[in-house]
Amino acid sequence: MAGRLVVLVSGSGTNLQALLDASVDPSYGVRVVAVGADRDGIEGLSRAARANVPTFVEKLGDYSTRAEWDEVVSTRIAAYEPDLVVSAGFMKILGKPTLDAFPVLNTHPALLPSFPGAHGVRDALAHGAKVTGCTVMLADEGVDTGPIVAQEAVPVLPDDDEATLHERIKAVERRLLVDVVGRMVREGWTVSGRTVRIGK
Ligand code: GRF
Repeated sequence: MAGRLVVLVSGSGTNLQALLDASVDPSYGVRVVAVGADRDGIEGLSRAARANVPTFVEKLGDYSTRAEWDEVVSTRIAAYEPDLVVSAGFMKILGKPTLDAFPVLNTHPALLPSFPGAHGVRDALAHGAKVTGCTVMLADEGVDTGPIVAQEAVPVLPDDDEATLHERIKAVERRLLVDVVGRMVREGWTVSGRTVRIGK
């Protein structure tokens, strides 16, 4: 039986699309059962709709406290009984209710622990880094601080701006995320301290 994935998005959703495309092949072993977002009108939600995947939207601003939003998001995710939650360009830190209930994978467009946060590509460029890349990690309550599952390097080219560099990173990021999600769901994983090992 295919592993159940809930994917969370805030924007264009190209990582989501890569997961949707991969899951068409039964041997991938993963099914995207729902897509959640923190805002309306984004391409990520349209991609889910085109793939006939159910969606939900919970906006932080609709709740009087962060704790309420955290609870609601966790409840919405739980309704789809996921084996794994993937935060794929979801621009919110998930709260304890979600993190305690499900394994959550996150993807970041830099080689952590360098350049965490919302502007990983911009910050790497501003620092003059010659190599950056992408990181797939387990989410915890910090900003891009969870145990690292996989990383891949991407060179910074002399004429790069934030857009060109991000696009080149995202091409690698999508492939890495699809590979990691598939292997984790098919083979399982263990965490010992900060070391993540795929396969039992
Ligand atoms: C990715 O690079 C992700 O790591 C970052 O935002 C981008 C999301 O892209 N946080 P998309 O929405 O999957 O196209």
